[in-house]
Amino acid sequence: MDSMTCVPAIELNRVSMTKPVLLGNSLTELDIIRDVSFSVPEGEILALIGPSGSGKSTLMRMINRMEDPTSGQILLFGSDISGLDVRELRRRVGMVSQTPALLPGKVSDNIVYGPSLRGEPCNPEEYLELVGLEPELVSRPASSLSVGQQQRMCIARALANRPNILLLDEPTSALDRTAARNIIELICNLNRQLGLTVIIVTHVMEHAQAVATRVAMLVGGVLIEEGAAADFFEGPKTQIGHRFLKGELTEDGR
Ligand SMILES: Nc1ncnc2c1ncn2[C@@H]1O[C@H](COP(=O)(O)OP(=O)(O)OP(=O)(O)O)[C@@H](O)[C@H]1O
Ligand SMILES: [Mg+2]
Repeated sequence: MDSMTCVPAIELNRVSMTKPVLLGNSLTELDIIRDVSFSVPEGEILALIGPSGSGKSTLMRMINRMEDPTSGQILLFGSDISGLDVRELRRRVGMVSQTPALLPGKVSDNIVYGPSLRGEPCNPEEYLELVGLEPELVSRPASSLSVGQQQRMCIARALANRPNILLLDEPTSALDRTAARNIIELICNLNRQLGLTVIIVTHVMEHAQAVATRVAMLVGGVLIEEGAAADFFEGPKTQIGHRFLKGELTEDGR
């Protein structure tokens, strides 16, 4: 593919976000995200990494408009997301969070939720198979699944909306090592099978290295590194990137 003529799946163009915080008696605007620009080509898996509090979750929430930037633009296949219908945006950009977010009822109720809102047909067994769960689980109460199975079900629920992009914010942090590795493998397979574009936040560098084709690293809301994952893991461009990989960086980036 000619990268010069391809519209990226996601493009952030000078995105900033401030939040009012009370410091003593006065309200001050705190910089959470500062002038961040990068893009994710279609079909790639970007690992969004950085110390705790660096703005990774905030950035993810902005991509499906749970929060809006203070300035800058976010484009989905070239369209500014601020002009898109939020429901349609969230259908196209699926989000899976750190701890499985269950809807009440059965596994099937969880999976068909999005399509049924739109009056579209959906075969829940098909999506269970896609995420490596037994189709027989379909009639079980969602809350009776193990946490690892619940996380797979949440991925199936997002996939049932036939998204272009999947956002995963630390999807393995509630899981044991084996379940976590299996979820990482599942993400690789889904990317290969469906050509799904993925942005995954993880603090486990082995996971980032196993899954990602690209890496973006934030420190204090600033984009420090961005590029091919292979290059980053071979040797980050910045001193701060090196120190982060060695586990030497403190939360405030010093
Ligand atoms: N509602 C808010 N009001 C003020 N500050 C906030 C608010 N939400 C987030 N922040 C601040 O924004 C910064 C970025 O938070 P965010 O949750 O995006 O970080 P993160 O990189 O996801 O961290 P972690 O790895 O711990 O999940 C933090 O300093 C946090 O305290
Ligand atoms: Mg976070």
